[in-house]
Amino acid sequence: MYTQAMDTAPKDATPAVRSADEAALQTRFDARIDAGEFIEAKDWMPAHYRKTLIRQISQHAHSEIVGMLPEGNWITRAPTLKRKAILLAKVQDEGGHGLYLYAAAETLGVSRDELLEALHSGQAKYSSIFNYPTLTWADVGTIGWLVDGAAIMNQVPICRCSYAPYARAMIRICREESFHQRQGFDALLTMMQQGTDAQRAMVQDAVNRWWWPCLMMFGPPDDQSPNSAQGMRWGIKRISNDELRQKFVDATVEQARVLGVSLPDPALQWNAARGHWDFGAIDWSEFWQVVGGEGPCNRERLSARVNAWQAGAWVREAAMAHAQKHTIQQEAA
Ligand SMILES: [Fe+2]
Ligand SMILES: [Fe+2]
Repeated sequence: MYTQAMDTAPKDATPAVRSADEAALQTRFDARIDAGEFIEAKDWMPAHYRKTLIRQISQHAHSEIVGMLPEGNWITRAPTLKRKAILLAKVQDEGGHGLYLYAAAETLGVSRDELLEALHSGQAKYSSIFNYPTLTWADVGTIGWLVDGAAIMNQVPICRCSYAPYARAMIRICREESFHQRQGFDALLTMMQQGTDAQRAMVQDAVNRWWWPCLMMFGPPDDQSPNSAQGMRWGIKRISNDELRQKFVDATVEQARVLGVSLPDPALQWNAARGHWDFGAIDWSEFWQVVGGEGPCNRERLSARVNAWQAGAWVREAAMAHAQKHTIQQEAA
């Protein structure tokens, strides 16, 4: 879902010395990017472009599977059978998104095991939003409405990413994300319109807790996001962090009004001159703290992932043994 941490990795060094052949390939690559062409897995690409994509796509894949955890916690406690079925399907979708994205990353010459090892060792990043806890059922609806809503804003432009396997994966993912957003909004609307005062208060409390972390999902401000310019140049990133954040605020204010919840920002105000909603200052120290591993649930999420990986070892081994047996049987036939 979630690409917020993309701008937070250190800049890679670009090799200074290149052969004449490589310089010609680079010129051709730049021309293709400028012409808006897609790059396929077998095409020549600069090492830095490849490395940046591996980092971005794998961080995105990690975010999908870590994102299963906060909501997965609520599957056994969903209030009705209908909500349980919806939540099961949504969490399963997120697992599928992870698989499409790991597959897209593998086309760049990295193995899934290497990527997972980087996640489990704490080397790789995933979206910080999943390091916040889901305290009540209203958090599940709020994640659908706001977190998936912010993810859609972030991800629709990636459907036009210059790297074709990533762009293709994103088209499918975005279709499913829009269902996620709507189911979240629908769950909250039911609580707001048909619920008790206590349920309405629960929704408001969840919105109060998720609003600011959701604004942080778009990444640091443009002037503090040094890798963004290169991402734009390569057609990996199409719209800047601040522009995406503004689009999200503009779209969400009206939805909050329909729901009947307030957004926890006294500075939120329509600016007729700009044609956008103004909003208050984001506490970036909180963002950097969570990115740095000190969020409320960083340790819990990572250990849940590592435990799941270790507990699932026998399934992987059995699947490999089965595949091997199948191959031997086929060769013998
Ligand atoms: Fe997703
Ligand atoms: Fe989603």
